[in-house]
Amino acid sequence: MGKGSGFGKVILFNEHFVVYGVPAIVSAISMSTTAKVERIDDKFEFYDNRGATPNYKKDKMDHQRDSIEYIFNAMNLKKDGLRIELAGDLYAASGVGASAASCAAMARALSDEFGLDYTDEEINRVAYEGEKGYHGTPSGIDNTAATFGGLIWFKKGETDVMERMNLKKPVNIVMGNTGVVANTKAAVAGVGERKEAFPEKYGKIFRSAEELAFKGRDAIKAFDLNALGSLMNDNHKLLQDIEVSNNDLDLLVDIAREEGAIGAKMTGGGLGGYMVALTPEDDVQENVASAIEEKGFKVLRTQIGI
Ligand code: MEV
Repeated sequence: MGKGSGFGKVILFNEHFVVYGVPAIVSAISMSTTAKVERIDDKFEFYDNRGATPNYKKDKMDHQRDSIEYIFNAMNLKKDGLRIELAGDLYAASGVGASAASCAAMARALSDEFGLDYTDEEINRVAYEGEKGYHGTPSGIDNTAATFGGLIWFKKGETDVMERMNLKKPVNIVMGNTGVVANTKAAVAGVGERKEAFPEKYGKIFRSAEELAFKGRDAIKAFDLNALGSLMNDNHKLLQDIEVSNNDLDLLVDIAREEGAIGAKMTGGGLGGYMVALTPEDDVQENVASAIEEKGFKVLRTQIGI
């Protein structure tokens, strides 16, 4: 039996902007997806045993099917005679890198089963191909976090730039789930259309996003958490300006800030999915998490920089 896993992730700066070559910062979180591959006599069997936001699996079924095809093509393998099972403690939901984590996990499990000895770079390349099933034109940030873990500075380009970053120590965050399954492909396409229709407005927003990434990197290097939180707030504003936030995400951001988070923003593709709040103190993390839960939303209590 082949086994593999992939990390969930939280984007701290510049989802969407990253698709156009603006630098972004992402951290893996402690939750991950696992994959098991077994040989069977019959055709191809696939079981998705991950906990999930209601409707996530149904809504993503076509994307998942495409993604599996891309993975097998990229690895030059045939599906027949295999049974794949996904599990793990990463909730399958929009905004936490669930798709990328599943792609990295499957690539690793297949490499393990067939004795291919793929390096992390090769796993990342296959996971990127798998991500195409979900995103169309992924930047590569999610599969990079899912494969390598840690805290990463990422810039898409002819050759992607991936730099490992260090946070002096892990910092608590709360991720609040709107419970809305979002279509990342559509969200990314929407930004592309508006960017083309309003070049001046979007040019200005994109330049601000670029500046924020560098300031965010400085704040992380200096372990200046107040600055980091305030820059995350600024990033949320830019994401609102490009119309990828929505009322649920803004509500979760407001609750988090009211309960003492030093910064909060939507994270991932937006239009649903997750919000992330920076809550270094344990009691603030708990207050933010329980206030969100009291409103009926699910949360993750986790950390960045692990
Ligand atoms: C989704 O987690 C991040 C996006 O920027 C898409 C991508 O980078 O491929 C929205």
